[in-house]
Amino acid sequence: MPDANVETVRDPQPQRVLSGIQPSGVIHLGNYFGAIAQHMALQHEFPGECFYFIADYHALTTVRDAEALRSNVFDVALTYLACGLDPDKALLFRQSDIPEVTELTWLLATVTNMGLLERAVSFKDKAEAGIKRSTGLFFYPVLMAADILLYQSTMVPVGKDQIQHVEMTQDMATYFNEAYAKGAEQPLLRRPEYRLSKAPYVPGVDGRKMSKSYGNTLPLFASGKQLKKAVGAVVTDSTALGEPLTVEGNNVYALLELFCEADELAEIRGYFEAGRRGDDPFGYGHAKQLLAAKISEHFADARERREHYQAHPEEVEAVLQRSAERARAIARETLDACKRACGLL
Ligand code: AMP
Ligand code: TRP
Repeated sequence: MPDANVETVRDPQPQRVLSGIQPSGVIHLGNYFGAIAQHMALQHEFPGECFYFIADYHALTTVRDAEALRSNVFDVALTYLACGLDPDKALLFRQSDIPEVTELTWLLATVTNMGLLERAVSFKDKAEAGIKRSTGLFFYPVLMAADILLYQSTMVPVGKDQIQHVEMTQDMATYFNEAYAKGAEQPLLRRPEYRLSKAPYVPGVDGRKMSKSYGNTLPLFASGKQLKKAVGAVVTDSTALGEPLTVEGNNVYALLELFCEADELAEIRGYFEAGRRGDDPFGYGHAKQLLAAKISEHFADARERREHYQAHPEEVEAVLQRSAERARAIARETLDACKRACGLL
């Protein structure tokens, strides 16, 4: 993806990164490599502000247990802080702490045709996966568009499954601007661009997209026996120990790829293709051991930070609240401008 929005010198408004993640279960490697890793990198690389939020209103489309939702929200916040979110560089807030987003959702809904939402692939996928076909689930992309447009975001770093939602957001921004600010010097709502990570599609243990709804995820913070068990679930073929292992379409190899630089990956590919490591046979058991060691090592520091924040929930809450204050000020400005344009103020 070109970094289309990283710098537009003539644009006097600040550039802003924004992304959200749903608190609908345990955060997995797909979320990390598809989204969180680039969120963390952008807070250091991006020349504007970074806004990250926990999409708790969205999660109500799937979570029906208040305690579970609260605990998931805390878990996402912990995960971001553990993975290196720097509260001096980026915001981390709860979506529902900025209720203005629901008001903008309604304004956008009135300029959005049914046809646009009927084309949403995620609705069809989720309905097929057995999620209740509530009107909230159908409406999901409008709320997501409001999330993005409310903060005049310019760049939205997400995994591949979210591209269509960002494209719908672009359409909704255009419909709204056309309806209420045609010919204005500055658009009322800015059109965002999506940005994919290096691993926009992470496969799950069964080779389908890693997803909470498919129950095929690998967690970030497991260790020891629990990690061994999780990695043990990666589906493999029945190649005998010592025989060459096919690399193409191999789930263990695809997951190892996420953790290795080119040189190391070439070496590992060699073990797979030979079915040997040095003088010893190399099979799926060894490949899985390697994967478990990679996961454990990659998140070792994050696991420690996580333990710290777990023991200090008040620090987590303080970050969420401070972030919400800043985000809310911007939200108000955008919402007021939109309401004025519609004749509501
Ligand atoms: P969700 O869990 O659906 O809220 O997703 C949060 C973020 O993780 C979004 O940016 C998704 O695109 C990304 N994501 C989720 N699953 C995957 C996956 N299997 N591969 C890559 N990115 C993913
Ligand atoms: N729909 C996104 C997902 O499931 C989460 C999300 C909600 C989001 N609002 C957003 C992502 C705004 C980016 C920007 O992954």
